[in-house]
Amino acid sequence: MATPHIAASPGDFSDIVLMPGDPLRARMIADNWLEQAKLVTDIRNMYGYTGYYRGRRISVMAHGMGIPSLSIYATELIREYGARTLIRVGSCGAIAPHLQLQDIVIAQGAGTDSKVNRMRFLDHDFAAIADYALLAQACDAARRLHYPVHVGNVFSADLFYSAQPEMLEKMEKMRILAVEMEAAGLYGLAAEYGASALTVLTVADQIRGGASLTAAERQHSFGRMMEIALTAALE
Ligand code: HPA
Repeated sequence: MATPHIAASPGDFSDIVLMPGDPLRARMIADNWLEQAKLVTDIRNMYGYTGYYRGRRISVMAHGMGIPSLSIYATELIREYGARTLIRVGSCGAIAPHLQLQDIVIAQGAGTDSKVNRMRFLDHDFAAIADYALLAQACDAARRLHYPVHVGNVFSADLFYSAQPEMLEKMEKMRILAVEMEAAGLYGLAAEYGASALTVLTVADQIRGGASLTAAERQHSFGRMMEIALTAALE
């Protein structure tokens, strides 16, 4: 049965779902990385596809921007469509000065200014962390492929336009690698429903330096991130 936001039939999704923010990215992943990919939902143009990668059935569905949007799609995928492994593949803004454009960040944990995990956890602090097996598999894949990655804490911000210099300094001091907008929500949600989650990111801009990727560069680094995410998902 369809959910309010996903128009697929039962069984249309794999238990493994890769989740970019952008629906056109979902289409691009289906076109370039999956075989026999079929569109399974397109409500609000939030495309979802299921196909095969190295013989394993895999889905890809966009989650939109921010924790509220991601939470709608990820919850329905888990509760109604049997998703057990959710891997976000997205972009981030670098905070740590040693991060370069196109570097890959694997979010071991995620802090946030969102209240969602407190809402789930009786107002206590929940340590929003990646599933360890997925994290280890992603790190192994990166090592085998000789792709350098940075593994550590990220910050999932509710406001994209909120650059308070004091907060940027604090994040750098506290060893936050990068800012994005969903990982903490995904990790809290996965914990609530007993699913496994990971977030793999490409550095698209340097928040303090002001540099950002060109479209061609985005494409190149995106391929490395996909290889890491897909290899981690399959193991
Ligand atoms: N902030 C939040 N999310 C992001 C950014 C950013 O600067 N860059 C890419 N995703």
